[in-house]
Amino acid sequence: MNFDDIKLPAGMAGNVDHVGIAVTNLDDAVKLYKGLLGLELDGVEEVPREKIRVAFLRLAKGSGIGHIELLEALDPDSNIGRFIAKKGPGLHHVAFAADDMTQALANCREAGIRLLNEEPVVGAHGKMVTFLHPKDTGGVLVEICSAEH
Ligand code: CO
Repeated sequence: MNFDDIKLPAGMAGNVDHVGIAVTNLDDAVKLYKGLLGLELDGVEEVPREKIRVAFLRLAKGSGIGHIELLEALDPDSNIGRFIAKKGPGLHHVAFAADDMTQALANCREAGIRLLNEEPVVGAHGKMVTFLHPKDTGGVLVEICSAEH
């Protein structure tokens, strides 16, 4: 991969949309983050396709990061279940919002960054999401999500 070719900022909204954290107990994790950081719970939802339950907590305005996303596996045989079995709970992914998802993904492909899903899929909050291969992004699982809320 030629890093000179990377043009990720084009089509990206330029801010971190959320940080995803894998947890073993969603209710406890929500209490922890609410209590520890004074975050507000935006909501909890199930994402059946991923076999997970997700809580979104809103950070203070102006922090530059919109949300903390807590991810609990509903089935050990899911991406989050396997992640926790292998590495334990903890930081799972960083999500950047894209104003133009098509352009952002085209830029990634052009730069030789592999996509874990070639076409965006519906994630939490009904947003379209795509994940980049962590081997092509310095070991960090990067999510690109649609900017609209
Ligand atoms: Co996410």
